[in-house]
Amino acid sequence: MSRPRIAVLPGDGIGPEVMQQTLRLLAAVAPDVEPIMGLIGGAAYVKHQAHFPAATRDLIDDSDAVLFGSVGGPIEQAHLPQWRGCEVNSILALRQHLGVFINHRPARIFPALRALSPLKNERLEACGEVLILRELLGDVYFGKKRTFKENGCMIAEDVATYTEHQITQMAHQAFQTAAARGGQLCSVDKANVLDTSRLWRQVFTAVATDYPTVQLQHMLVDNCAMQLILNPAQFSVIATSNLFGDILSDAASALPGSLGMMPSASFNATGFGLYEPAGGSAPELTGKDVANPMAQMLSLAMLLRHSLDRPAAAAAIEQAIEATLDQGHRTPDLMAAGGQPVGTTGFTDQVLRHLP
Ligand code: IPM
Ligand code: MG
Repeated sequence: MSRPRIAVLPGDGIGPEVMQQTLRLLAAVAPDVEPIMGLIGGAAYVKHQAHFPAATRDLIDDSDAVLFGSVGGPIEQAHLPQWRGCEVNSILALRQHLGVFINHRPARIFPALRALSPLKNERLEACGEVLILRELLGDVYFGKKRTFKENGCMIAEDVATYTEHQITQMAHQAFQTAAARGGQLCSVDKANVLDTSRLWRQVFTAVATDYPTVQLQHMLVDNCAMQLILNPAQFSVIATSNLFGDILSDAASALPGSLGMMPSASFNATGFGLYEPAGGSAPELTGKDVANPMAQMLSLAMLLRHSLDRPAAAAAIEQAIEATLDQGHRTPDLMAAGGQPVGTTGFTDQVLRHLP
């Protein structure tokens, strides 16, 4: 087999620095994998006057997987062309370009960091990982949008659309994932109010008959938001629509205690994968060597496992991160749990030391 190539798109803010550290791990666990660097977001705009330039599309189309950092600039610069529409033009356009319709967001609780979570320890103890499966190409994100004036009054519209095909495709993936993880699936919607949710629930119920080993439960999204905080251990795999998944996955990051620890993986119908931290570009942390690189590193581990079929290399990264945390090394966002302060680079030095 020829050398696998991964498109690496660090983007903006803390993206480049956490990516640089993450690539040190890649070189250590899979030295034959070739990272090809590309521009996206504000960083691409400076050079190409586009947030997702053709050069980056070509590079992606020639790769085996995409490792993405983060995009977006400081709020006070939001009016500059470099940042205007940056997220929509880059990450949403990239997801659409690749056709990645399902996003896996695992909220994993590291025992060494339990004290960090605002949740009581006894609520977390029974809870290892909650996996949120978020539909990624439908809903208000990609529906028709407009802002207009009628009778002197401004009106804004975002249309939420789901097709039966979109939900069916999502449901099969969700059931297969749940089947491989103990057989519990909670589908989350707002079927008491929304038509899209009623179709969602109908399709999930129909697809369930193909997966007799999976136990399907339906839950309304408002209740789910509460249950995630009150009793997270009841969840194993949650499947939900795009906007609900966006919100619930940030809420679920309260379980590990920091958004800096949430990786994600998105797949299209051919299994091609896009891997990105669930957090943002954190401009205020940029260039200070303080950002937590874990979400980026765990996203690389997911890439190695799912796109390159390297489970040993993935496990090596995950175990080295866990060992680093067990030894008490903490980036600033994790310091509430006590321990020894380290920066982005210092944390990575420790992870490298703990690789098998
Ligand atoms: C996420 C982010 C993005 C989203 C933004 C940056 C467009 O919040 O990946 O969760 O809403 O999908
Ligand atoms: Mg989000």
